Amino acid sequence: MPDAPDTSPDGGIAATSRALAAAGYLADEPASLVSHLAQRLGKPVLVEGPAGVGKTELAKALARATGRDLIRLQCYEGLDEAKALYEWNYRKQLLRIQAESEDHEASGVMDDIFAEEFLLTRPLLEAISSEAPVVLLIDEIDKTDQEFEAMLLEVLSDFQISIPELGVIEARTMPIVLLTSNNSRELTEALKRRCLYLWLDYPDAEREVEIVRLHVPELDEMLANRLVEVVGMVRELDLKKPPSIAESIDWARALLLLGADQIDSEIFRRTMSIIVKHRVDLDLVAERVGMRLAGALPAGGE
Ligand SMILES: Nc1ncnc2c1ncn2[C@@H]1O[C@H](COP(=O)(O)OP(=O)(O)OP(=O)(O)O)[C@@H](O)[C@H]1O
Ligand SMILES: [Mg+2]
Repeated sequence: MPDAPDTSPDGGIAATSRALAAAGYLADEPASLVSHLAQRLGKPVLVEGPAGVGKTELAKALARATGRDLIRLQCYEGLDEAKALYEWNYRKQLLRIQAESEDHEASGVMDDIFAEEFLLTRPLLEAISSEAPVVLLIDEIDKTDQEFEAMLLEVLSDFQISIPELGVIEARTMPIVLLTSNNSRELTEALKRRCLYLWLDYPDAEREVEIVRLHVPELDEMLANRLVEVVGMVRELDLKKPPSIAESIDWARALLLLGADQIDSEIFRRTMSIIVKHRVDLDLVAERVGMRLAGALPAGGE
C-alpha cells in the first residue's frame, strides 16, 4: 500500500482496497475507507461487529498489504500492564547488582538497572518502540476492564508510554492501530473518541461468494452461490448464534471434501452442524431450512 500522499482521495481508497484484496482480504467500501484514513490521519480504528466477520483478519491483511510486521495483543479478563506494556527483568537486574556490587558504588548501580536493556517489552511497548513501522492489533478489547482501557488512552492518543523509572518512550514510527470488539460490553466514550469507527457486518451475498471462493477456489461457482444463499436463509432465523463468514468457509471446505455437487436436504442434514453450533439452533434450522430444501423449493422461494 503506498505511503506517499495520493492526490485523489478516491484513488487512495481504491488503492487501499486493491492492496487489501491482493493480501487476501475483500474489503467493502467502509472498510477500505477507514483503512485508508487510519493511515492518513494516524488514528487508531475500533472495529466492532458480530463474531467471525473478519475483524481480526482485517488487521492481519493490513499488515500484509503494507509489508509491516503485525504485533498482536490478545485481550482477556484480568490482562494487566505487566502483560501488555512492559515488566522489569528482575532476574537480569539482580545479576547486574551482584556482578557490580564488588567493584562499584551501590548508588551507581541503582541507575544502571533501570535502563531500557532491563525491560521486558510486551506488545504495546514493542509496537511503540519498534524501529520499523508496524500494525498493532489490540484484539477483543471488550474482554478487558475499564482500568485497562484508561491505561490504553495514553498509548492511543499520544503514541507514548510513561515508565516512572525511565521517562516517556515516544513512538519512533507511527503504528497502524486496530482494536476489535465483539460488543460484549460498552466501551468508554473516552476510548471511542480517540478512534475511527468501523462496524463490520455480514457481507452481502455477492461479496460472501467472492470471499468463500477466495478461500476455497476449487469449489464450483454454482455451489458457492447456493451455499451462500442457504447460509443467508439460516441467518434470517432468530438464532442464538447465526453462522458467520468463518462458518461459510468451513462449510465450503467440508462440501468439497465430501464431493458434494449440490446442497440437497440430505447433505444439509449431514453437514449443518458445521454452520450451526447450538442445540436449540440445530432443531430450529433442521425444521425450517431442512424442510425448505426437502420441499425442493426454488431459490429464495417460500
Ligand atoms: N472480507 C474478507 N475477505 C477475506 N476473508 C475474510 C473476510 N472477512 C472474513 N474473512 C475470513 O473469515 C474468517 C473469520 O474472520 P476473523 O477471524 O477475522 O473474524 P472476527 O470478526 O475476528 O471473529 P471473532 O469475533 O470471532 O474474533 C477468517 O478465516 C477470515 O480470513
Ligand atoms: Mg477476531
